Amino acid sequence: QVIRLGDYRPSDYLIDKTDLVFRLDPTRTRVTAKLQMRRRAGVAPGTPLTLDGDGLTFVGARIDGADAGDNAVSATADALVVNAPPASETFTLEIETVVDPTANTQLMGLYRTGGNYCTQCEAEGFRRITYFLDRPDVLSVYAVRIEADRKDVPLLLSNGNPVENGDLGDGRHYAVWHDPHPKPSYLFALFAGNLGVVEDEFTTASGRLVTLKIYVEHGKEPRAAYAMDALKRSMRWDEERFGLEYDLDIFQIVAVSDFNMGAMENKGLNIFNDKYVLADPRTATDQDYASIEAIIAHEYFHNWTGNRITCRDWFQLCLKEGLTVYRDQEFSADMRSRPVKRIGDVRLLRAHQFPEDSGPLAHPVRPRTYREINNFYTATVYEKGAEIVRMLRTLLGAKGFAAGMDLYFQRHDGEAATIEQFLACFAEAAQTDLTQFALWYDQPGTPNLAITTRYDRTARTFAVTVNQSLKPPVAGTPNAPMVIPIAFALAGKNGSTLDHDAVSGARTMQHEGEDGVLVITEPKHEIVFTGIAEEPVLSVLRGFSAPVTRVPQAPTRDRFFLARHDSDPFSRWEALNSLAMEDLIKATRAVSAGDPAAASDALVDIFSAVAGDGTFDNAYRALCLTLPAETDIAREIGRDIDPDAINKARRGVTEHLAKACERVFARIYHELQPRNAYDPGAEGAGRRALRNVALTMLCHAARSTDLAEQALAEADNMTDRAHALMVLTHLAPESEAAAQALEAFRTAFRAEPIVLDKWFTIQATVPRAETVETVQALTKAPGFSWDNPNRLRSLIGAFATGNPVAFNRADGKGYELLCAAIRRIDAKNPQVAARLMTAMRAWRNLEPGRRQRAKTAIESLRRGDRVSRDLADIIDRTLA
Ligand code: ARG
Ligand code: ZN
Repeated sequence: QVIRLGDYRPSDYLIDKTDLVFRLDPTRTRVTAKLQMRRRAGVAPGTPLTLDGDGLTFVGARIDGADAGDNAVSATADALVVNAPPASETFTLEIETVVDPTANTQLMGLYRTGGNYCTQCEAEGFRRITYFLDRPDVLSVYAVRIEADRKDVPLLLSNGNPVENGDLGDGRHYAVWHDPHPKPSYLFALFAGNLGVVEDEFTTASGRLVTLKIYVEHGKEPRAAYAMDALKRSMRWDEERFGLEYDLDIFQIVAVSDFNMGAMENKGLNIFNDKYVLADPRTATDQDYASIEAIIAHEYFHNWTGNRITCRDWFQLCLKEGLTVYRDQEFSADMRSRPVKRIGDVRLLRAHQFPEDSGPLAHPVRPRTYREINNFYTATVYEKGAEIVRMLRTLLGAKGFAAGMDLYFQRHDGEAATIEQFLACFAEAAQTDLTQFALWYDQPGTPNLAITTRYDRTARTFAVTVNQSLKPPVAGTPNAPMVIPIAFALAGKNGSTLDHDAVSGARTMQHEGEDGVLVITEPKHEIVFTGIAEEPVLSVLRGFSAPVTRVPQAPTRDRFFLARHDSDPFSRWEALNSLAMEDLIKATRAVSAGDPAAASDALVDIFSAVAGDGTFDNAYRALCLTLPAETDIAREIGRDIDPDAINKARRGVTEHLAKACERVFARIYHELQPRNAYDPGAEGAGRRALRNVALTMLCHAARSTDLAEQALAEADNMTDRAHALMVLTHLAPESEAAAQALEAFRTAFRAEPIVLDKWFTIQATVPRAETVETVQALTKAPGFSWDNPNRLRSLIGAFATGNPVAFNRADGKGYELLCAAIRRIDAKNPQVAARLMTAMRAWRNLEPGRRQRAKTAIESLRRGDRVSRDLADIIDRTLA
């Protein structure tokens, strides 16, 4: 069944108030829901009322206090129909259901994790708890009473403020919570169990004292300190940057170890995958710390962008996700290095969103149809959605953007809104027309820009021609010209920005203190700058001002210039990165023709210049010295991909650069030896990042892993330890040293699943054919579980998305491994199975032999046993 955006109709009935009672029991939890129903104005009295359900056991129903007989109400596992509701405008509907949290392996609705009770309701999990109008535009005020065994379940939590708690005798107790803010059912949460807590407080700008609590497994409280610190910084930042304050007296976060995604923004009670809460230097890497900071902020920021203003329907998902990702990106940029954050985000966008947008799973940022909404929590909705908000900010300038945001919060607070309403606020506040801009939400695919330049010395003009094009990723999708903001500068000899007298051929924007912006709206623009005294080099898409590709690239000479001189750090990295990519592609061709892989002299020169340039910040230098990944190269090549050739080529180029710059890397490695105690901040993380790049390069240069072994022995934190173990294992997988180091790691962290996940991932990503068998064997290793999403992602997911060589093994065994695993996982957890399946989306880009084997493996999944709707949806689109 396909759901269509165009079919949206408001609900005939609304639910003003929802009173829930949970009598918790491991296998028979009784849920009563007392719903204060209201017929919407204009709806005929007596119109039948259908509530959503999913796998429910119905016990009974009462309407206005009287038992509803079989004629009045018909209930199946998946729906409850009130055939002839009271004619009065309002009435109460009481429903009793029974659910089995222990049998709930989907981790949607009410389930058990680590002996505790936990919920996940977004997108449609609430209907697995009770019958409801489970749609985001039905906002209700919730009161929740939870009853449970006091000894096993001392902690009883739900949204909002605590109202009451007490004893029930018989060893049972209860608690009541009330959330004054009307919310859709997907924001409901319950947690009950036995955990330790870290407590703190925060005073909002207007003086509200907020209690902050983070719940984690007993004994792990110290590892929640960083998350608490990140939370307080997020709360302050949202006040300062967006003028948004917290609105309840308590804010709680619960960390659980079985969770389908990263975290969930339930009102006042965020539930987190524990890997995004727990951190200390011994167990977490710098990357883990950065993710925790970003996700804590993301979920907190949802309180306004998602909760206070929610989505009218699930097609508007990017309204909350794209905007909230933009907000968390800005937060991290302010907390750390802005250019480093931007480069990281762009790399992520290119690695995940660009391939999605050019393959069989492409969809608009606001989809128009779906079969299973859980399959649309995608890089396109999240990351491209954030890029659209960023473009708005670029086009309108800081002031115009802030005015639009303010109007949005003022006008739609308490509502379930649409993208049109969001855009209207900016159009109105900044007095501009955003009709064409809105195409970004509706047209799938990555636009391409072709840009050429011509300098006329006598006329002192500089002409820039820009062609935009959009290849529809799916036959029949629209591709009208879009609004593309190109942040630019004309760079003079030393990189300084040249002035110009006038520009014709495109609208330009110049906001105070920001780069100039060319606003592209037509298929072709011929832009002329006048009064240009010397021949400039054009620096465009500064800061990656639009999510587009640029083919062909700027002339090689210009890029070498920009890689040394561009005053925008992003564009300087971009120039260098594209030069490295060019060499890697050439090297891949060479390898395919039986020749050795090498880097060009020019690349060696610039690489060693950057490596030795101490004026750059360490983290930035580390990024510049990291070659594009094999998957990046594959994406750039695009078709008839041979992952083995790419692997050989990248390794050859790496060795060449490493040897050529060996002395610089040795100096870096030595100079950046840790001196102070570990600090997870940007500065320390930057030192470690650069030093670890140097370590990798030195091992390549020497064709020896001695230094990695030494680093492993010296490491006093997980960042250095995991990196050294990875280098050792990947470069010398058969060595005794690697085997011993892996065993030592396993022994040290056998009781810490989220740390052991690193051990699984390092082994799953060893770039050699035999890893297929290793992964097979690891599914039987102690510590692995087919039921835990984190284990599955760290072993199976890492293998399929982070190991091009083994996954794409020419005999097809890698695909078979993945598909067999998916079949097994699908029976218990369709959402995770469907997500893993997306690893096969680029099968058409492979060389013919692998292409055929991949296709056969995918098709075999569709035959035989029934697969879930989640998985069927991904498979069918992948093969279509
Ligand atoms: N809203 C959550 C977040 O962005 C993610 C929920 C994902 N839900 C899903 N069904 N995949 O933080
Ligand atoms: Zn989110």
